[in-house]
Amino acid sequence: MAIRTPEGSVIIPPGGLQPAPPVPQPNIYPMEWRVETEELAELYERSKRQIYNPSDFPWDELRPEDFTPEQRIGIMYWYAVLANFDGSGPAVFAKATIHAFEMHTEDPIRKCFFSITRDEMNHEECCQRVIQKLVPGGPLDFSPKTDLERAAVNNIEWLYHNGGRYWKGYGESLHKYPLSVLFTSFMMGEVASSTLFFGMSKKARHPVFREIFKKVGQDEARHLAICLKILEKDWPGLTDEHKTLITKQLRAGFVFLSMILWEPPNQFWEIPEYFLANHRVLVQHARDGGLGVLTYDEQAENWRVALARVRAMVEAWGIEFPAIPELDLDGVDVGDIGPEDIIPVF
Ligand SMILES: [Fe+2]
Ligand SMILES: [Fe+2]
Repeated sequence: MAIRTPEGSVIIPPGGLQPAPPVPQPNIYPMEWRVETEELAELYERSKRQIYNPSDFPWDELRPEDFTPEQRIGIMYWYAVLANFDGSGPAVFAKATIHAFEMHTEDPIRKCFFSITRDEMNHEECCQRVIQKLVPGGPLDFSPKTDLERAAVNNIEWLYHNGGRYWKGYGESLHKYPLSVLFTSFMMGEVASSTLFFGMSKKARHPVFREIFKKVGQDEARHLAICLKILEKDWPGLTDEHKTLITKQLRAGFVFLSMILWEPPNQFWEIPEYFLANHRVLVQHARDGGLGVLTYDEQAENWRVALARVRAMVEAWGIEFPAIPELDLDGVDVGDIGPEDIIPVF
C-alpha cells in the first residue's frame, strides 16, 4: 500500500527509515573525499598545473637525416630500453589507483596515483614518438637489415621477455604486501627516474631531447615527492617482518632498475651472453647522437649517490639497507631475487 504524504514533503515511515545493507569491503568507489595529508592534495594540484602535451614538443626539429644510421638505431634502442620500463608505468599505476580506491585510502592518495598514471602515459608517448620518428615501425616491427639492427632487435626482444616475467607477481603483490612495502618500491623507481632524467637533461645536446628530459624529470621529481610523503605516513609503526621485506624490495629495485640506469647485475635478468657487449655498442651510438646518455662511470656514480640517499632515508626509520657490492655499498645480504620480488615502477 502506497504511503501518502502532502505534496513536496519526504516520507519518514512510522517505523523510521530502513538502513541500507552495508557495502561488502574491500570495494571500489568510496563515497567520501577524506583528506589526511594536506601536502598530498597540494602535490595533486601541482600535477594539474604542470601538465603538458607531448604532441606539442618541437618534433619537427627531430630530423632523422641529422643522425647517422647507427645513431638512429642507437637512440631507438635506448628509448626501447626505456619503454621497457615506462611502458609498464600506466598499467602499474592504473592497478595501484584501483587498489587505492578499493582500500579507501584518503582521497589525495587516490588522486595522486591517478596523476602518476596520467604522467606515465605521457612518458610512454615520448618513447613512442622518438622511436617512430627515427625508426618507423620500431622497436620490433621493422625489418632489420644490418647486424647492428639485428642485434638491437634481439636485445629488445630479450628485455621484453624479462619485462613479461614480473607482471603476474606484481598483480599478486598488491594484495600480498602492505602499502608501505609497495610504496618503497615505487619510491626506488622514482629516485631512479628522477636521477636519470635530471642527469640526461643536462647532458643532452639535442634540444628536443633536452626538452623531453626536463619535462619528464619534473614529473618524476613530483612522483618522488608523492611517494616520500606517503612513506612518511606509513613507515612509523612498521613491524620487523615488513622492515625485512622492505630491505629485500630495495635490493630488487636496484637489480631491476640498473638495466636502465647503469648495467644489469648478474641476478634476475635472463639475457644471452652477448647481450651486454651489444648493449654497450648500441648505447654508445645513442651517446654519439647527442641523446645525453651518461658514461658508464658517470652512471655508476649517479646511481651510487642516489642509493646512498635512499639508504640514509630508510635507516632513519630503522630499516636496514641491502648490500649492493656492485656499487661498493655495504649492507644486509637478502639472498635471491626472483620475478615475484620485482615490483616494476618507473
Ligand atoms: Fe615515468
Ligand atoms: Fe614516475
